[in-house]
This record gives sequence, C-alpha cells and structure tokens, in this order.
Amino acid sequence: MSSARQDNSGRVKTLLARMTLAEKIGQMCQVEAGDGHAPDNLGERLRAGLIGSIINVVDVGVLNELQRIALEESRLGIPLLIGRDVIHGFKTVLPIPLGQAATWNPALVEQGARVAALEAAKSGVNWTFAPMIDISRDARWGRIAESYGECVLLTSELGAATVRGFQGEDLAATGSIAACAKHFAGYGAVESGRDYATTNIPDTKLRNVYFRPFKAAVDAGVSTLMTSFSDLNGIPATGNSYILNDVLRGEWGFEGFVVSDWDSIRQLRIHGLTENDRESAAEACSAGVDMEMAGDAYRNHLSSLVEDGAISEATIDTAVARILRVKFDLGLFENPYTDPGALPEFGSETALAVAREAALQSIVLLKNDHGVLPLNTDGCSSLAVIGPLADARYEQLGTWIFDGDEELSITPLAAIGALVGDNTKIRFVRAMENSRSRVNEEFDVAVDAANASDAVLLFLGEESILSGEAHSRADIGLPGDQVELVRRIRATGKPVIAVILAGRPLTLSNIVDEVDAILYAWHPGTMGGPAIADLVFGITAPSGKLPATFPRVVGQIPIYYSQKNGGKPPTRENVVHIDDIETFAPQTSLGMSAFHLDTCFTPLFPFGHGLSYTTFGYGNIQVSAAEIELGQTLVVSADLCNHGDIEAEEVVQLYTRDLVASVTRPVRELKGFRRVRLLAGETQTVRFELHTDALAFYGRDGKATVEPGLFHVWIGGSSDTELRADFRIVKSD
Ligand code: BGC
Repeated sequence: MSSARQDNSGRVKTLLARMTLAEKIGQMCQVEAGDGHAPDNLGERLRAGLIGSIINVVDVGVLNELQRIALEESRLGIPLLIGRDVIHGFKTVLPIPLGQAATWNPALVEQGARVAALEAAKSGVNWTFAPMIDISRDARWGRIAESYGECVLLTSELGAATVRGFQGEDLAATGSIAACAKHFAGYGAVESGRDYATTNIPDTKLRNVYFRPFKAAVDAGVSTLMTSFSDLNGIPATGNSYILNDVLRGEWGFEGFVVSDWDSIRQLRIHGLTENDRESAAEACSAGVDMEMAGDAYRNHLSSLVEDGAISEATIDTAVARILRVKFDLGLFENPYTDPGALPEFGSETALAVAREAALQSIVLLKNDHGVLPLNTDGCSSLAVIGPLADARYEQLGTWIFDGDEELSITPLAAIGALVGDNTKIRFVRAMENSRSRVNEEFDVAVDAANASDAVLLFLGEESILSGEAHSRADIGLPGDQVELVRRIRATGKPVIAVILAGRPLTLSNIVDEVDAILYAWHPGTMGGPAIADLVFGITAPSGKLPATFPRVVGQIPIYYSQKNGGKPPTRENVVHIDDIETFAPQTSLGMSAFHLDTCFTPLFPFGHGLSYTTFGYGNIQVSAAEIELGQTLVVSADLCNHGDIEAEEVVQLYTRDLVASVTRPVRELKGFRRVRLLAGETQTVRFELHTDALAFYGRDGKATVEPGLFHVWIGGSSDTELRADFRIVKSD
C-alpha cells in the first residue's frame, strides 16, 4: 500500500507561477549546513529563497529557526526539506540493512523504519536517504552492509517495506518522513567491489535485476530517488537520461523528484563526460536530476544555461514542480515546525523492543555441530567470553550511524552476564585491541580462560569501520590475527562457539572447521547483546537466513544463487581439484565445466541458509495443476514439520526456474517466502500463490513477458533445496 496523498498539483502550479527563475533554481539546491559546514551567508540565501533543502543538521532548535527564516523572511515562504542519512535507525540503532534482510520479515523491517522515522522526525528531519536497494553480489563492496543483499525479490519486498515504514500511511502525519530509494542505478555492480568504480550492465540485466527493486519502491510510493555515483555503461548515472527520463519517468510514471548523490553532478567532469561544471549542470539537469546534493553546479550555472537557451525554463519548472509537490505532500506548508514533545522519547521501550526483535531474527546460525548450542545455564558453570567485539558498544552498531547513541547499546558481554546471573562464571578476555590487530600478547590469557571454562564464546569479525561507503576490502577473511586466535582456542579442546559481527559475508573457510558453532550476527545494533544472549542460551531459537551467498574464497566472487546455467555447468562428477591432477598429464581433461580448480564450485553457505535448534523437514510438494494458462494462478504447497521438541520459526522459501526462454533465465529465482512458527512436533502445509505475472522477465525488446513452457518449482529452507515439482505454462486458447 502506498502512502495516502492529496492532489496538490493545483497548489504547485499556483506557487510555481509566482516564482522567479532564481527562486526556482534555489529549490533545486541543497546546502550542507552541519556543524562547522554552514556557509556564512546561509541566512541571506534563505531569505532570498535560494535554498530548497538543508542536509546534516539535526538540532531541532536550529532547524526550526532555519524553517522560520525560510517561511517568514523569504518572499514566498517555501519550507525546507531537511535531509539526513537515517540508514538503520537514528538514536536507537537497528541491525545493518544486510542484517535486517536476514530476518526475511518485511513487517518487522517496516516497523524498524517507523522507529527510525519517529526518532529522526523528533530532531526535525523530514527526509531521509534510505532505503539503499542496490542489488549487491560482491561482498568486497563495503556498501553491501547497507543493502538487502543479492536477491531481487527480497530486496524489492524489504525496500518497499522500508518506504512504507518511513513514509507511513500519511506522509503529512507527524512522524512520517520522505524516503529516498538509492542509488539509481547499478551501483552494487561496481567492478571488483571498489566503491565508486565503473559498472557495465547489459540492458536485460538492468531490467531483470538492478531496476526491479526501484520499480517496487516507486510502486510503494517512494517520494524521491537518488542517482548513483557510478558510471553506467559509459554514461554516469547522474547524467543518464535513459534511466531517469525514459525508464523512471517515462515507463514507470515516477512523480517524485530525483536528487544527485553528494556532489555527483560536478563529478561528471571527473568521469570525463563534461569539460566543466557548467556542462555538468546542463547534462544532469537535462538527464532529469531535479536537485543537486551539496555541490554548487546548479547554483552557479543553471541560470545562465537558461538564459543562453541550453536548458529550457520548462525543464526547470518540471524539476521544481516535483520538489514542491513533495513539500506539499509532507504537509510542510501547514506544519513546518517540529514539536519534539509530540514524538516518543529517543530509545523508547517500543524502539528498543523492535531493535531487539530485529536483531533476534537477523542472526543466522551457520553451523551447530553436535547441537553444541544452545548452552544450558545449568550445565555450563563457567564460560570464557573472548574477543574484541564482545564488549564494544560502538562497534556492534555498524556503518552509517551518524546519530546512533552508543550509550543505548547493550553489549553481548553485558547481556550474557545479566542472563546467567550467578549460575555461570564468566571469564572475559578481549584478546585483541580491535579486529585488525596483529598484537597477540593477550592470546595466552585467552587460552588460560578457555582452559578454565566449560565452553568458549569467541567474538570475531570486523568492527564498524571496515564496511560502509568507501570501505571496500579485497580480502574478506577475518582481519588481523583472528585466525591464529581461533587456532589457539581450538587447541584447548573446549567447545568453541564463534559469534561473528561483520558488515558483509566474510570468507570463513579457514575457521569453519575449527569451531563447533557459528552464529552470524552482522552488526546487530543497539540491542545486539540481548539478542545474542537469548540465542546462545536458547531462550529463542535462531531463525535468520542468509540474504547473500557466502563464498569459500574471494576468487569465487561474484557468486550468487540466481546464476545462469551456462553451456557447461559444473556438477560433482565433472570437476577436478588441483590436488587430484595427475603429474605429467598435461592433456588430461579437467572436467571441462565452469569451475575453479582450487576450490569447490559451490559456496561455503548458500543464499537462504540458516539453521535452527530444531530440525525442520520438508515434504509432499504439490502444484494445484500440471498446466496453467497465462494470467492464471498456481498454488504450490509443501508440508513443513518441526521434528524437534521446541517451538521455532522457519523461513520457507519458494524458487522457480524457467527452463527455456528467449533470454536465458537463472537456475533459480526466489518467488515467495514466509516466516512460519511451528510448535514442537507440529506439521503445517505451507501454500504459495504463484501468478504467471510473477514469472515475467524482460526480453530482448526490453519488455516484460511470460513465455509458455516448462518450469521447475522448489520449496525449502534454503536456495539449495531439492524438493521440486514441475508445471507448464500454456497459451490460453
Ligand atoms: C552517499 C549517499 C548519502 C550521501 C549523503 C553519499 O556519499 O553515497 O548514499 O546519502 O552521501 O550523506
């Protein structure tokens, strides 16, 4: 459901008719005014009506005053958009978006965005730059942390949920803020995961993969979109009329406005698309970028470009109308000021409860040998808690937490201590100053603590600074001397449970067999500690599922579940390992399929993987018909049984494959998912409705199509499920 919206077109038209060219261009300019960055002439420019938006001020007193100047001291009294990156929470920090994606729970993600919106709105913010819905299939890219992972459907559903959470049912209501879907388009495909690098994405892939979450956000009523920093097929996104004018506006009918990324208009010159800022302003404006974030190309050049006829005033009018419309939709003309008292306290009970639930559902149990988890407070009289991330309030929050309140954080160490009380003796050893440290002087102390305890909880991973914007890595293994720490602890022979906090999938091949269990906690946010403690001691069973494939080694990247089959797909029978190549046999066939000689062709953990403390069994997959016609709906069902003796939740996943198509299709595509709660021993039949429209893809002509033919359909607990049925789509008579 998209936000309710009044038709403000009449008001926009009337206001626009009263504006001078300078005032119009002013609306297209956003100014940075955070601590120490406000321009000296800020007040003067506001009074002259030359600023449309302010970024990075979160002091409600200051913001109310800036609004007052804009409203009362400028000729037309147009209120300001107040922008801020509220990416996964404001004061209360939710798990990083990649962690939230592991919940596979759109309703919870929506609640999380609502919590963030209420806290941001309390500070005077009325526009945020989220959700980031760039499909991310390269864990080297630091911004994978900000994404919902690799899957088109999961990203689309969670992106739309986030938009609903920020914007609410009524954008003009107190506590609603405008969302911004970013970064349009293709940013997640930057070469070798280097932030800001180039992307080359064929049109069919743009349409079938990278565009789709944005279309879903537009359908959910997102108010604004942000362009990407990256070069897309030779035309940087910020100057790309094809994606902005033709697709976004022309095909999808987007009526909100488009903002550049930070100074990305002037960067068109650095890309080599233009010679100077004036040309950059012309390119971006004609391509459909309505507002410039932070730079001054529009401010300095749009007016002369109009005077010289290079840009028509009609183009400017269109951009300004889009911006004004969002201001009217937000109700800023009626309610421009923020009354913090009208909104809940920061870190309210509700906010913390949502953050805790989100963390709980986001954590993925990757392995659990011999049921080492959950620990039992009675059976575990002493526990060694080791590692640099066990008690680091800030580091558990993750990237993009400008306003996050570290004081609200409850660390795993604190939460475990509170949970076990006097039952269990805790021995905490930090062992490393931070995750990157190569100083291992404290390892002996850690080993002593492990030797003296019944079990070890080893907190590993990356601290916040190793992921996020401009924080890409070429080697995504555990940094510093962590692998050595794992080996030393392993040698004690004690049960070792690794809890990994990280902003991306890490390559874990070198430690996966050295530990008994792995809980992958991402950067879990403010309430990460209590969530981890609950899972470790089995108060709740883990239910998170991977939103991104975990490679064995970096060289496998990009590796994702929805790859194409190719002409020579690898199978267990046609691959050869480097250690098995016979000496002096240069002509021997080495399998002749698409694999690497020095690693397995499968990932370490597939997309959708995640264990529980119970065992779920799937069976009896059924399709309601062996054949359906275009336009019909198929019902696919399977029985899910909780074989264990505890109640638990499972994320049931539905995948399809279109076997023959005029454009080759992926080997699997997620087409449905649902969180299901089952009592001990319970069996439920889980049903999915699959309309043939859900099987559409963009073909050679760039149009959506569903082609008749054979389809496979699977239901299961991860993308490698083998429980399959087949059906056929036939042409209607
Ligand atoms: C990022 C955007 C962000 C903007 C404003 C840029 O560097 O790419 O995602 O919204 O800064 O902070």
